[in-house]
Amino acid sequence: MTDPKSDNKSDPKSDNKSDNKRGKTVHGDAANAGHRVLAPDDAEVEAYLETALKAPAPDRSPDDRPGSGAPHPGADAEGPDTVVILDFGSQFAQLIARRVRELNVYSELLPHDTPWAEIERRRPRAVILSGGPNSVYDAGAPMPDGGVWSGRIPVLGICYGAQLMARELGGDVLAAGKREYGPASVTITHEDGLFAGLDREQPVWMSHGDSITRLPEGFHATAQTDSSPLAGFADPSRGLYAIQFHPEVAHTPRGKDILRNFVIGIAGARATWTPANFIESTVADIRSRVDDHARATDSDGLVICALSGGVDSAVAAALVHRAVGDRLTCIYVDHGLMRKRESELLRTTFEANLGMRLVMVDARQRFLERLAGVEDPEQKRKIIGDEFIRVFEEEATKLGRIDFLTQGTLYPDVIESATSETKAAQKIKTHHNVGGLPADLRFKLIEPLRYLFKDEVRAVGLELGLPEAMVQRQPFPGPGLAIRIIGEVTAERLDTLRDADWIVIDEIKAAGLYRSVWQSFAILTPVRSVGVMGDGRTYANVVAIRAVTSDDGMTADWAKLPYDVLGKISSRIVNEVPGVNRVVYDISSKPPATIEWE
Ligand code: XMP
Repeated sequence: MTDPKSDNKSDPKSDNKSDNKRGKTVHGDAANAGHRVLAPDDAEVEAYLETALKAPAPDRSPDDRPGSGAPHPGADAEGPDTVVILDFGSQFAQLIARRVRELNVYSELLPHDTPWAEIERRRPRAVILSGGPNSVYDAGAPMPDGGVWSGRIPVLGICYGAQLMARELGGDVLAAGKREYGPASVTITHEDGLFAGLDREQPVWMSHGDSITRLPEGFHATAQTDSSPLAGFADPSRGLYAIQFHPEVAHTPRGKDILRNFVIGIAGARATWTPANFIESTVADIRSRVDDHARATDSDGLVICALSGGVDSAVAAALVHRAVGDRLTCIYVDHGLMRKRESELLRTTFEANLGMRLVMVDARQRFLERLAGVEDPEQKRKIIGDEFIRVFEEEATKLGRIDFLTQGTLYPDVIESATSETKAAQKIKTHHNVGGLPADLRFKLIEPLRYLFKDEVRAVGLELGLPEAMVQRQPFPGPGLAIRIIGEVTAERLDTLRDADWIVIDEIKAAGLYRSVWQSFAILTPVRSVGVMGDGRTYANVVAIRAVTSDDGMTADWAKLPYDVLGKISSRIVNEVPGVNRVVYDISSKPPATIEWE
């Protein structure tokens, strides 16, 4: 088996330039597709299951959107008001979708060439055209279906989207005119609703080469910068608005107000996309789906869910539990590679507090035995995946006939599978050697988070009553501490790392930094060094600390932790963790390093 991950890791320089720039997905594939796979902390568990099931990508009908399930009391028959974002390849396209969701309006990111009939069928209140790397003059430049200009639905063009609007409706765009990149000051010349409540001068973020030089018939200018006299323009009678700058990025401080003015003010979308409404409609959907299936097949409608300790599977399980109660059984495979007190937190939350059926499998010894003597990172991953599925299979079989499997698939994964290779297919490439579940264990998938971004999953988790410690946690890799122990994994080394890791998290939390760093953790290196403690000489382990900032795990920078926090972490580890006498801080960025050491 050739594993792209190991190839990349052993020779990061072999990546071509664009791969390097965009990083890679959690599965090791270059993240240079139009859409990136974020790094869900539960990715591994899902990978194991999907692979073992040889599951094809879930079959999603075009109607697969919130509210498209069975009607239920309190539900809006048409689902939530929707904004469609057409993706022209901008690295910010997902960000636009998230900003709209932050206004409590549901948004969907669709490929740029989605047929207009398909867009209209979703009855969006508004359409937003994203930016993109192309010039409108490029051969094969991405174009929307012409129906978008019909004037039937308000449209906001951003950057490339603005240039498209200008050019397609009869204006002029100057190819590779004066480049404008970075912060700029825009002067609002015409308010038109889009800039309601904003001062005349606004700091904004620009990133474009081509410039609009003449407006189409019926449009007037609404904003300008020093280099772009047509930085904003509109034809309100047709509901067409355009801005050359990016309202979705943090560098445009009032960008969210502009989006609000468009989505709620101009397009009239209702702000009903809230965690509470989502929970209500999703729970009703799941319940009716499971009930219908049980009636049709004369079965009990039993559901299982593999808990990983991560946010996604926890929230998915809590939602499904609310829908089907005791018909859900959660299986938690304790492979012994978890952080300190992980299993306790799971048991307290799910069994004691939520009253869920939880099968906790103590498989620590089995994993240790299989990992004995193994040093190669990819070998570790394979063994853990393989053993995980064996344990899961044994437990699932004991439960009798199971109809549904709950998965914590998130919206970015859905976008990915809709536009490029399917997620399942990617995973099978990486993990094709794991064993398979028996053919008669055929589950249907319940994916209650498939409409949500990660931050929305967290909000839903809190609303469902999951503890903050579970919902706000940093990502954690499926193979757990095994890939943070460089060299052989043993019970003793796991204990050492667990204790050091606990101190890192404890101090990062105490300093109020836990949520501002993407991940922070300890690595147990295979290096021993000389030290002195009391009157004696020591020869003990070196622990490395890694803390990174990142938006999505694809690229990352080392976190500039305050020296006193680092100092405290170091002295506590050396004093409290037996067998460690030296602590070092990893100051590598990704690329060329990766976040994990293995
Ligand atoms: P790297 O080390 O590739 O990690 O920069 C990027 C993100 O992915 C997580 N990661 C994994 N997650 N199984 C997972 O579920 C894995 O094998 C794995 N390897 C890395 C890592 O923690 C980071 O968030």
